[in-house]
Amino acid sequence: MKIGVLGTGSFAPEKILTNDDLAKMVDTNDEWISTRTGIKERRIASADEATSDLAYRAALNAIDNAGIDKNEIELVIVATMTSDHFTPSTAALVQDKLGIKAAAFDLSAACTGFIYAFTTGYSFIKAGIYKKVLVIGAETMSRVTDWTDRGTCILFGDGAGAVVLGETETGGFISSHLVADGSGACELLVPAGGSRTPASHETLDNKDVYLKMNGREIFKFAVKVFPETVENILEQANITADDIDLFVPHQANIRIIESISKRFKQPMEKFYVNLHKYGNTSGASVPLALDEANREGRLKKGDKVVIVGFGGGLTYGSILFEWSK
Ligand code: ACO
Repeated sequence: MKIGVLGTGSFAPEKILTNDDLAKMVDTNDEWISTRTGIKERRIASADEATSDLAYRAALNAIDNAGIDKNEIELVIVATMTSDHFTPSTAALVQDKLGIKAAAFDLSAACTGFIYAFTTGYSFIKAGIYKKVLVIGAETMSRVTDWTDRGTCILFGDGAGAVVLGETETGGFISSHLVADGSGACELLVPAGGSRTPASHETLDNKDVYLKMNGREIFKFAVKVFPETVENILEQANITADDIDLFVPHQANIRIIESISKRFKQPMEKFYVNLHKYGNTSGASVPLALDEANREGRLKKGDKVVIVGFGGGLTYGSILFEWSK
């Protein structure tokens, strides 16, 4: 049985925050942000938009693109590090908004979340448990961003992307590689607001309910593990980077993507980039980029596609699949 992507969708909030806007908020400037990251602007959810709202809109687009009846979906997985609540899951809220009968759960693997969720959705279908699975990556990173910390607030943005997975006539999933290394947890974390250190007046005052990141360490980690995981999935399939038609990497920093392009001796044209428009949307970044690549006609039936994630956990991973549409 071949299992692949039946359709893609995405959604980004209307409000745009440019680098010049940020320069009015913290000591930074467009030139620094552009040259160090490649980011020019990002989207910010409105006060009444939560992660499930963005996820729902992306899901509707993916269902439409797949050309299926929404009632065919039997499982909804939302990869997110910014769920609406501790409980219920964001996925259950999306299931309800869609008005479908389906199992639903969230998956937490930060910026690698969509890679984990795609592999999980594939596995449910492969095991014969479900026929069609909706896999969503959605984030409102603006809600865990410290808007006074210029080291992090310039990087992140809000958005959502989704795919419908199901049986396909051709192509589909080829190989996947998922890794976690919790020893690096402290390099990228939200210190308070969980069971270790519940939210309190003190943690709010210390801004410990916001994302803290060791940017340099995460950068070094990314350029080390990106090639490792891609080599793994290529080896499993017994092919080389030359055989790949499109890489859709996590959209964290253009310098990370450029270094991988050099490392694999592949032109930048083979790497889909939209981080200049959205910044780093964590778990949403890969499906948001995949959907834009699809809608721009960058994917043809039979194309070999590699999607890659890396981030909090620390986690990383990648998937190789063939475009079936
Ligand atoms: N504007 C202007 N200057 C700044 C800014 C800013 N926004 N931020 C830092 N600086 C200054 C620093 O203070 C430092 O000044 P100094 O030399 O006088 O001390 C200088 O710029 C260089 O700072 P670095 O931190 O060394 O800058 P670097 O080139 O490493 O870039 C960055 C920082 C962009 C954060 C980079 O490290 C990076 O992209 N890291 C990876 C981040 C990432 O991908 N994180 C997400 C993982 S995904 C997830 O799971 C959420």
